Amino acid sequence: MSDETMALFSPRLAARFDALVLKYPLRRSALIPMLLYAQDEIGYLSDAVIADVAQRIGITELEVRNVASYYSMLRFKPAGKYNVQVCTNISCMLRGGYDVYERFQEELGIGHKGVTADGLFSLEEVECIGACCWAPAIQVNYDFHDELTPEHVAGIVAGYRGQAEAEGTVSLA
Ligand code: FES
Repeated sequence: MSDETMALFSPRLAARFDALVLKYPLRRSALIPMLLYAQDEIGYLSDAVIADVAQRIGITELEVRNVASYYSMLRFKPAGKYNVQVCTNISCMLRGGYDVYERFQEELGIGHKGVTADGLFSLEEVECIGACCWAPAIQVNYDFHDELTPEHVAGIVAGYRGQAEAEGTVSLA
């Protein structure tokens, strides 16, 4: 593997990939876990990520893309710093999930798979996120927010914006 390719991932993740491809009787069984780990580290499945993973597994880039395109949690474009996933599946839909989703669209000024101009937020309408008992629910990166109403939306957005400002990711201006 070239230095350029090796530099794509952290040494820790590269070592994890080396272990993963040895773990399964068929190397391609490691494909989805590798793509998820790669996305966690890089942010999305860039052309370079796809080429690297294809090489590690021993399949073509087209095969990687074909498999990855089935999985809605895998992205081919960068998401925002905070990826807001609003569930509108049955339990959430019955308890106002679409009202919450529409409020997020208004608040952020973007639609499904959109990213705000400052790169801070992206928005997705998703299927069940496993929080049906507390519907309607959303997931922001790895945080869950549940039993929501549209009135909660502005506060959630402001909370993450404040977090980014505190980290210096966005300016207060
Ligand atoms: S239906 Fe929304 S979390 Fe399950």
